[in-house]
Amino acid sequence: MWIRVLGSGAGGGFPQWNCNCANCQAVRGQTPGFSSRTQSSLAVSADGASWLLLNASPDLREQLSKTPQLVPAPGDSVRASPIKAVALTNGDVDHVAGLLTMREAQPFSVYAARRVIDALNANPIFSILQPQLVPRVELQLEHPLEISGAQIDLGLELLAFSVPGKIALYLENKDAPNFGTQAGDTLGFKITDSKSGAFFYYIPGCAQFNQSLIDRLQEAPLVFFDGTLFHENEMINQGLMGKTGSRMGHMNIDGPEGSMKAFEKLSVKRKIYIHLNNSNPVLNEFSREYAIVTAAGWEVAQDGLEIKL
Ligand code: MLT
Ligand code: MN
Ligand code: ZN
Repeated sequence: MWIRVLGSGAGGGFPQWNCNCANCQAVRGQTPGFSSRTQSSLAVSADGASWLLLNASPDLREQLSKTPQLVPAPGDSVRASPIKAVALTNGDVDHVAGLLTMREAQPFSVYAARRVIDALNANPIFSILQPQLVPRVELQLEHPLEISGAQIDLGLELLAFSVPGKIALYLENKDAPNFGTQAGDTLGFKITDSKSGAFFYYIPGCAQFNQSLIDRLQEAPLVFFDGTLFHENEMINQGLMGKTGSRMGHMNIDGPEGSMKAFEKLSVKRKIYIHLNNSNPVLNEFSREYAIVTAAGWEVAQDGLEIKL
């Protein structure tokens, strides 16, 4: 199974168009230790020919132009794409807007939770993807599913599970508990190569660790995990936005409630932070924080990272 990180940044990417924080200035100035990042998405394939996207970011077009495996090959028909399916972990703009790039008459399947499909159905702009060519398939929690699209079986099994999170920003109900979030609004994925049995986890958004995650991830060979923020208050402290990590539905890396601590006893073989917000100090490879996470056995995802499992 091949895995390629198309994008490793959080919503807005790095640098973000309107952000003038120290990190964004540094990456714009090509300061050593900083690399730009597009918005988070993975491409996965069992055979190297047919691909599944995990989330479709607004940067998809740019990501595909850097990934020869994901564009039509010279011998293909005049309209062609190796991408046969897209699975969505939630309905956030940075995870669904790339579907619009995949207009308009190319067959592939979209897999998502019921409420994310409802959000796509409720927004007429997504009908640019012709419904008879681009079916929207509902993911049932904890039910492994063989992924197919454009009449091709990808040889990949997807298991979707609910993780603590938050409903998409544009769907928030200010008067409801946790803004109207329900189980299934934020998913984690276990992706398995049906033939070889190799598997990994993709969890780009997670608000909190719980026992079910501990049991699930114990001794996993590879986990991509929510690396949005290092500190709960870093957006506030940098004057970027008045929101904490928890308010945004992301647990932070540092501290007693953070993901670094949560993974300490899990014996995960390879763990990679992804969905990195531009405020995160680990984006500076010469920072104290980068040294801390790497000393704890973490990698910090870069766009273009390729893994063979
Ligand atoms: C998030 O990950 O919290 C979202 O991408 C936020 C947003 O939609 O701006
Ligand atoms: Mn996001
Ligand atoms: Zn910034």
